[in-house]
Amino acid sequence: MSQKNNTQKLSRRDFVKGATALSLSSLLANSGSVYASGSEKIKLGLVGCGERGSGALGNCIDAAKHLGVETEVVGLADYFEHRTMKAAERYGVSPELCHCGPDCYKQIINSDADVVLLVTPPNFRPLHFEAAVEAGKHVFMEKPVAVDPPGARRILKAGELAAEKGLAVVAGTQRRHQAVYRQTQYCVENNAIGKIKAGRIWWCMRSLWHKTREPGESAADYMVRNWVSFTEMSGDHIVEQHMHQIDVANWFIGKPPEAAMGFGGRARRKTGNQYDFFSVDYDYGNDVHIHSMCRQIDGCYNRVSEHFVGTEGSTWGTGPGPDGFARDVKAPEFEEYQGPQVQEHVNLLAGILNGNVLNEAENVANSTMTAIMGRISAYTGQLVRWRELMDESLGSPWYSLKVSPTAEDFVNGTVVLPEEDIAPVPGRA
Ligand SMILES: NC(=O)c1ccc[n+]([C@@H]2O[C@H](COP(=O)([O-])OP(=O)(O)OC[C@H]3O[C@@H](n4cnc5c(N)ncnc54)[C@H](O)[C@@H]3O)[C@@H](O)[C@H]2O)c1
Repeated sequence: MSQKNNTQKLSRRDFVKGATALSLSSLLANSGSVYASGSEKIKLGLVGCGERGSGALGNCIDAAKHLGVETEVVGLADYFEHRTMKAAERYGVSPELCHCGPDCYKQIINSDADVVLLVTPPNFRPLHFEAAVEAGKHVFMEKPVAVDPPGARRILKAGELAAEKGLAVVAGTQRRHQAVYRQTQYCVENNAIGKIKAGRIWWCMRSLWHKTREPGESAADYMVRNWVSFTEMSGDHIVEQHMHQIDVANWFIGKPPEAAMGFGGRARRKTGNQYDFFSVDYDYGNDVHIHSMCRQIDGCYNRVSEHFVGTEGSTWGTGPGPDGFARDVKAPEFEEYQGPQVQEHVNLLAGILNGNVLNEAENVANSTMTAIMGRISAYTGQLVRWRELMDESLGSPWYSLKVSPTAEDFVNGTVVLPEEDIAPVPGRA
């Protein structure tokens, strides 16, 4: 199982060399686009035109400019028309290229986009990612990539197909594209603190936004608008937010954990069915443990960070910890153009253009599954093992645990609103 970040630093000179030698058209093998004498453009399509989707499209355009390539937005799609039109206005996209509704992703998948950006709430990601890979698209997809174990496994499987097809897959776990994290991970991998034995990871922050249901509003529309309140849409905040730190732990340790045991609770929320806090012990085997903590409550002490203790020193995710590094490791100068959220698109496009695509599907699926494993343990009060989520032959109920409404329910119009202001009770769930 690969946990390596195989991004590469590609200078503009390397890029131009690669593009000249092979031409963009031959490199965008699945797109059929033509790049002649600088007249060709990378065609982009976006599914999910919210805050991050609209931002990610801009990040991708900036990354292409940095690499000296032109882009063209060939499709925008959002569940809500007004969201699509807002992005259309921002990027000057004509109305005939704009789509809305629960199955609007199909318009982008069927368009001539070379690269699709999947930035809806995460419950839709497996359905959209499978369709994109099937259609031969290169993909940027935001984290997390699923809300339940079957969903995370669908991403793993589609990621394998993407690899077979030579498609690029880059995820919004942007710390893997952030120079300071890459340098620290490089030092840890090269023995700066010996072997990681323990650690603590935190996303303890204020509450996020929430929406209340409008009179007469359908269950589906309400759940899409208020998606950060429902486990069925977001995976709960351990999955939706804290998976960034969980991903760093998996990356630095080099594999996902073997088991999770945790707890959590709901204290202040009014809508939806999520918890407000989680505390989870992740057991990585061989006596290596990571304590994960996340909380979304106002007026408390905040910390968003990672800390690892090795046999010979300690580190934060971003550099030496209080005990320092036992060995002075010289890390390379990793590129970070305009921050990690642009750099991840530089790495996506550079990989496509130089014929050496990046495929982060496995890493992001595993980190999503790790967060889901912690959530299941907290909701149920049980010890949950990685193998129970991955190996059907063990017959664990967690293996097939599917939350509903599913993405398909939204497409088929069969959404039933889960009960609100109620949360799982451990020992009974
Ligand atoms: N990497 C990061 O740092 C980062 C930061 C913010 C958000 N995110 C992730 O990005 C994703 C989106 O978050 P956001 O903040 O943009 O949320 P948002 O609510 O602002 O936007 C989500 C958009 O998706 C649309 N949508 C919902 N269902 C859809 C469907 N089936 N088809 C098409 N469109 C649909 C919504 O109408 C909305 O416009 C989430 O997975 C979130 O975790 C990542």
